[in-house]
Amino acid sequence: HEEFTKVKNVEEIELGRHVMETWYFSPLPPEFQDCKVLYFSEYDLCFFKQRQQMLRHLAKCKLQHPPGEEIYRNGRVSMFEVDGKKEKMYCQNLCYLAKLFLDHKTLYYDVDLFLFYILCECDERGAHIVGYFSKEKSSEEGYNLACILTLPAYQRKGYGKCLIAFSYELSKLEARVGTPERPLSDLGVVSYRSYWTRVLLKVLRDHEGSISIKGLSDMTAIKTDDIISTLQHLQLIQYQKGQHVIYGAPASLERHLLEAGSGGLEVDPSKIIWTPYI
Ligand code: COA
Ligand code: NA
Repeated sequence: HEEFTKVKNVEEIELGRHVMETWYFSPLPPEFQDCKVLYFSEYDLCFFKQRQQMLRHLAKCKLQHPPGEEIYRNGRVSMFEVDGKKEKMYCQNLCYLAKLFLDHKTLYYDVDLFLFYILCECDERGAHIVGYFSKEKSSEEGYNLACILTLPAYQRKGYGKCLIAFSYELSKLEARVGTPERPLSDLGVVSYRSYWTRVLLKVLRDHEGSISIKGLSDMTAIKTDDIISTLQHLQLIQYQKGQHVIYGAPASLERHLLEAGSGGLEVDPSKIIWTPYI
């Protein structure tokens, strides 16, 4: 919690084609604490105080994508899975980078225990990081996501919902329900609320006959608590005689869906090549 009160140190980062203003303090190694601009080498995320140093490093760097396995490709979008234990340096660099845009999370120095899912936009030059989420290799609390970030240059384009959708597709492949680690940031809350709302409304609209909260959870891998809070928010649920009852006339579901905005970038689950971590 010490990090929380510290003022922003780095003002801007350069990463690939983008210059981005930072939002929060990051506990970078001391020699980087007071530099106005930090230059990231885009494939291995090593960072430098001077552009020349970064360019020299980039020229030597053999990577053209994150140092992990490509587990998904759909058009120009790819997802790479990076094991924090195998690629410690990359994952630590990613955490330093992410902290510049996260206010409350304490940085995970112990990246060993996490897998990192890196979403990329691909072109002829390489796979360019857009955002990521991290996930504990085994979570006793049933978390399917620890941290999520869309880099500012790519925000509001549907990538956040894509990352969230992906985290639930992995949960489905594990045959488990999942929930994001708390607390969520304000932007995290709206993004999750938006994702849950659309997913649940679509199931309710398309499902024949009645469906229980448990049934919804089985179909979506969304934890029942999150389903209840979402339906309460939409005023589609009532607590009667000791149980929750879902009320959703087709017309009101259609109306809510129209109001719920875009679904973001679609995840095609048939294109995920992945086996759960054991
Ligand atoms: N203002 C208002 N609503 C916003 C918003 C903003 N700046 N950014 C996102 N939203 C809401 C919108 O409802 C949006 O859906 P819409 O565009 O259809 O209206 C929805 O969230 C998700 O948008 P999307 O484009 O899929 O998300 P994103 O790529 O911008 O990423 C975050 C969302 C949360 C990952 C991103 O804001 C982020 O990285 N924030 C900093 C890190 C963070 O707070 N992470 C969560 C805590 S662990
Ligand atoms: Na999306």
